[in-house]
Amino acid sequence: MPEAPLSKGLPLLGNMLDLMFNPLQGLLELCRNNGPIFRFRALTEEFVVMAGTDVNRFLSEEGKDCVYSGEFWKDLVAYWHNPNALIALDGQPHIDERRQWKHYVSREVAHNEQQGLIKAIEDYTHTLANDQPISARRFSRTLVTRELSFLFTGKVIKLSPKLGDAIIDYQRVLFNTLLARKYPRFILHLPWFRNNEKQVNAFARQLIEQTRNNKTESDTFYHWALRRVTEDKERNEAELIATFLTPFIAGLDTVANTLLFLIREITENPALYQRLQKEIDDEFRHNDGLISSPDTLRKVPALFGIIQETLRRYPVAFANMRHARCDFEYKGCTVKKGSQILFFTAQPHFDERYFSQPERFDIDRFLPPRSEQKTRYAFSPYGRGPHICLGAAMAESLLLTSVAYLLHHFHFNAVEPGKKFKYLFDPSLSLPDSFKIRLKPRRTGQCS
Ligand code: HEM
Repeated sequence: MPEAPLSKGLPLLGNMLDLMFNPLQGLLELCRNNGPIFRFRALTEEFVVMAGTDVNRFLSEEGKDCVYSGEFWKDLVAYWHNPNALIALDGQPHIDERRQWKHYVSREVAHNEQQGLIKAIEDYTHTLANDQPISARRFSRTLVTRELSFLFTGKVIKLSPKLGDAIIDYQRVLFNTLLARKYPRFILHLPWFRNNEKQVNAFARQLIEQTRNNKTESDTFYHWALRRVTEDKERNEAELIATFLTPFIAGLDTVANTLLFLIREITENPALYQRLQKEIDDEFRHNDGLISSPDTLRKVPALFGIIQETLRRYPVAFANMRHARCDFEYKGCTVKKGSQILFFTAQPHFDERYFSQPERFDIDRFLPPRSEQKTRYAFSPYGRGPHICLGAAMAESLLLTSVAYLLHHFHFNAVEPGKKFKYLFDPSLSLPDSFKIRLKPRRTGQCS
């Protein structure tokens, strides 16, 4: 069986330039030219790309044991002194570990804590000056940092925007250096990275200390993580830093960027905005002016539609990396043991066969009668396979509550409507700080 075809590229550089500035667009183009499985080169590295609904199925079924995650994450795991990082485990140890995490990173946690989440949103939005321009990215990052801190500690920690930025910058540099290997390693020794690292580690230590001192609190993820390190001699204190940062590393950039693109869409599309706001206001009215539970909010068509469509059109984590555990075959091609494989899980989001006019932002595609997400494995914003996002239900719950609350209580405007912004990939898909918005309270004296 031959190896997958090699994509045409430049001498030496291979397809590096195609992927450098807009990897999402570049990958889509390469898939269009090369089909569901191919190889490409970028300088000295070679990658196999696999994409399509059948690939997403393969990754979840017979292919799940052909590939593994540990190799891709190993430098980061070493940096964090955390051999037990969930994302880097494979096989039975991963299944066992994930089962335990599931109890704490769940829909129920976000559902049960909805009132606290609202308090976190209120506390933050009340600090914002009325109608003053603010970077939409900074707004969504600060909001989501506070929401996550509440969900995982039981208290709204008023993280400064500076710390929110430091966490994201720290993640960006670590991922681009130790995972994507786009940055040289010496970057990790530069004073500005060291400074971010210091702030982030101090934040993690503060979380650990708070949990240690808070013995009366219910059984949270953090209490469980702390208990395990104390009771299990195989585990070390150092791994706690990475474990305590996990919600922020996995959940902050992803949820905040999804919210960011959603805000961008409503501020650019007044008809969509009005429809969404009206449906949200009606839901508040039906519930005596109070916010409904996430399960009920999910049934508000425009709210459900816009969240799903944002995840489809702007898949912030559109691909994931694995290595081949053994030689295996897919669609008549051999993938050799040890190959680096890029699973482009969000590729079907842009395939006309599943999503009509895929470039269009169209929330009705997720609603009956169209329900375009019905093709199995076509809609995969949370990845596929054994490592499929553990926080997906929590993320959805956060987005439902945040968008409903924000749109009911505030009016959003873009400072420069119609202005085009370059996409950022650092590492999640994002928009630059130059996309600014203004927030104005819609009415006063209302409770949530
Ligand atoms: C819109 C929001 C989110 C998106 C798009 C997203 C996307 C993803 C993707 C694509 C993966 C798979 C990575 C891989 O296979 O290599 C993943 C894994 C993961 N996510 Fe999310 N995520 C989101 C929110 C969250 C939140 C809020 C949390 C928790 C606070 C979270 C926790 C995790 C964890 C723990 C994993 C690793 C699971 C495992 O290794 O078994 N995510 N996420």
